[in-house]
Formats: sequence, structure tokens, C-alpha cells
Amino acid sequence: MFDAAFEALPEKPRAISKELYRERQKRLLSQFDVGDLVIISSLPEATRSNDVHYPYRSSSDMLYMCGWTDPEATLMFYHEDGQWISHIFVQPKDTLMEIWEGRRHGVEGALKDWAVDKADSSEEVLSHLDRILESSVRVHVRTGINPDIDALVMTAVKKRDRKRQHFGSGPISVEDPSRRIAEMRLRKSDEEIQQMRYAAEVSSKAHELAMAASKDGIHEFQIQSIIEGFFVYGGTSGWAYPSIVGCGENATILHYTVNNSPCQSDEIILIDAGAEYEGYAADITRSWPIGGVFSDAQKEIYEVVLDAQEKAIDVCRVGNPYNMPHEVACRALAEGLIRLGVISQSVEEALDMESGELRRWYMHNTGHWLGLDVHDVGTYKPDGSPRLLEAGMVLTVEPGLYFGAWRPDVDCPERYANIGIRIEDDVLVTDGDPDVLTGSCPKTIDDIERIVGSL
Ligand code: GLY
Ligand code: MN
Ligand code: MN
Repeated sequence: MFDAAFEALPEKPRAISKELYRERQKRLLSQFDVGDLVIISSLPEATRSNDVHYPYRSSSDMLYMCGWTDPEATLMFYHEDGQWISHIFVQPKDTLMEIWEGRRHGVEGALKDWAVDKADSSEEVLSHLDRILESSVRVHVRTGINPDIDALVMTAVKKRDRKRQHFGSGPISVEDPSRRIAEMRLRKSDEEIQQMRYAAEVSSKAHELAMAASKDGIHEFQIQSIIEGFFVYGGTSGWAYPSIVGCGENATILHYTVNNSPCQSDEIILIDAGAEYEGYAADITRSWPIGGVFSDAQKEIYEVVLDAQEKAIDVCRVGNPYNMPHEVACRALAEGLIRLGVISQSVEEALDMESGELRRWYMHNTGHWLGLDVHDVGTYKPDGSPRLLEAGMVLTVEPGLYFGAWRPDVDCPERYANIGIRIEDDVLVTDGDPDVLTGSCPKTIDDIERIVGSL
């Protein structure tokens, strides 16, 4: 069932090049000086149960700085002979472990194929670090990832403090480098956009397949299996976050992931699911009637959300504050609900954060940065005021309305009982018009009605 959709995918982009990793490293290190030591660690594997691990996914900062994907790696940058050295410590090759757990790139692989100057076994990371710390003045490390590294760094700082009359060198301060890396990750390069476009295309097709397969009686998990099946079929590593597949009243639960109910033709299904490709996330939500035809009431709500989303996408432009899409979407949603008689306040009253009625039906933000993490890094108000959008930033635009008739805290209008609609796209800010990376995923009422149940 996946062949036609697969054939229609664009060609897979090439993986991020070594040159780009080098360029990123150079850009990060240009912010540091002789005497600075930068440490980036990825988490160890986590046990799921007994001797089974969760699928491993490296830390995004590690992926960003060098692309290393094996567990338990440490990347360090420090000065040696007047220049910066990138030095990675990785799980060594170990035939017995590889027979049981799978191939490792090992030290030789790291040196051969990765953008690093030196590589050693992770077993040696602490002894190396101990030595490097002696000549470091400032250490840049995110604490809480590798407790052994944290302890060594803290001991070195304390030692320096205690013996400062005798001890000429050693670190005097510890800082978290992730804010600086986040600033870089916020602005995507062309190579990154290509990866994100591919994740977005696979995810769009997966949603379209799920639409086509929808029919009365199908279970949420069956639709989930089509979506996630196509993520893998399309050559991505799978989901970027657990898929939300909720029908009927489940569509009004924002983070519903149980996905175990049967669906009826008169219900709306809301699916929030995106694939991860080369570490980069897509994040799409579509909502459609299982039976393929919107009721009048469903159509009314859908049109309000779609109008809000289109208006919000249109302001994803260079120079606009990051929260303008949210403000625009909220206003359009409030106007729509006033028109439908759901809200009896004025627009300004409805938008009030304390007493406005909009928050009863729309309780989340309209978007977030997107990249190596689905809720990607980057502060929204770096100097206390909203960040202005720049070309290369990618954000989601995802307004919704949720009429949970099961909620005791509100009187849900009967006409809209258990309608949950969210429409979410991934938008690249450019020097021209907003570029909707997920633009091929159907979202007009006509397209949806044509596709749903067409399999
Ligand atoms: N999928 C999570 C979100 O939309 O933010
Ligand atoms: Mn999102
Ligand atoms: Mn989402």
C-alpha cells in the first residue's frame, strides 16, 4: 500500500557534510578563547526493562556539532599548540559486544569519517579530562548528563580555589555552552533545510495515507500503524515524538497517546505525528472526519481553525516578533467563535488571558521552534522582549479548537460536542514569503473529503 506514496517522495538528501560540521565547530569556537574547554556529552543508554534498552537517540547538541550517533560519547574542544582540537571519546570496537548489540564505529571509524581531529576510547575520557583540566581556565559543560565528568570538573575547580597561591593553572569557572549552541541551531542552513524538507515530505505522505485508509470502525492504533509504518518505509528513523491519534472526544485531549479506541464515521480524528530524518523533526497535525464528509458543525469549526492558521502562517516573516502568529491566530479564532455564537464577549474581552473565553477552547500556544528537537532550542525572549523572526528559522503554526463535552469545567456547546481540530504545519522563514515545508499535506476541506476513505 505504500509503493505509490514512496515513489512520489523526493530524492533523499545527502547527510550533513563534514564541512558543515567543521564550519559549525569553527563558529562555536570563535566565541571562545585559549584556556577554554568545551565538553559536549551524549547520554548513556537507558534500560527499558530487564536487559532491553530504549532505542538510542543521541543528544541533539552532539548531533549538531559532529553527527555522532552511538551512545555514551564525549566531544571536547580545547587548545593545543596554538589551535583548536576537536577530540571525541567513543565506545571502542568490541567484537563480543558487537555480536550481541550491533556494529560500532569505534575509534578508527570516528577518525576516518567524522569531523574530529582526535578520537579515543570512552574508557579514557576521565584520565584525558583530568589532564586537560590542568591547563583550562574556563570549562563549558552542561552538567547533569555525565556525573563522572561533572564530578571531575567540580573537583578541579575546587582544587584550584583551595590552592590558588601554589597552583598556577586550572579552571576558575564553569558555564553551560548550550545557550550558545542553541543560538546557532535556531538558524538553519540550506543543508539542514534539506533534511527537514525530507522529514516533512515523508510525514505529509504518511498523513495522506492515513486519510485514505480511514473508515468506520478502524481503530486509532491501526491508523497509527499506517502513519508510523510509512515513516519507516520512507527511510526515516521513525517518529520524532510519540504519535497522537485521537478520535471523537480523544481529539479534545491535547497529548492523547493511548491510541486504542475504535473510530466512527461521524467523528473527527486528530493526528499529530511527525517523522525524524537525520535527527531532524517534522511536526504535523491534521484533523478529518473518519467517514470522509464534514458535518456542518465540524465544517464550521474546521473553517475557523484553517482561517486562523493561514493568517498566522502569513505573518511568519522576517522582522515580525516570534509571537505574532499566536496573536494573529488567537484573534481569528476569537472572531470565528463570536461569529458562531460560541463566545458572547467582544474580541478584546475574549482575548483577555484571565477572563477571556477563548482559552476555554484554545489553551495552548500557536507554535514553537522546530529542528533537531521537536520543541527545538532557542530562547523566545532573549532580552526580555520577543525575538524577531529571521530567515532560516523554522517554527510550527498549530492553532486548534477543542470542545471536550466530557469536561466538567466548561459548558460545551452541544452543537460542537467532542469536536477537536488542530491544523499544524512547519514553516521556514525566508527573505520572501513563508515556505511551508509541510505544504504538500492536504488540508482544505475539498482535498480532505476527496482523499478520506479513498483507499
Ligand atoms: N507534537 C507536539 C507539538 O505539536 O507541539
Ligand atoms: Mn508542534
Ligand atoms: Mn504537533
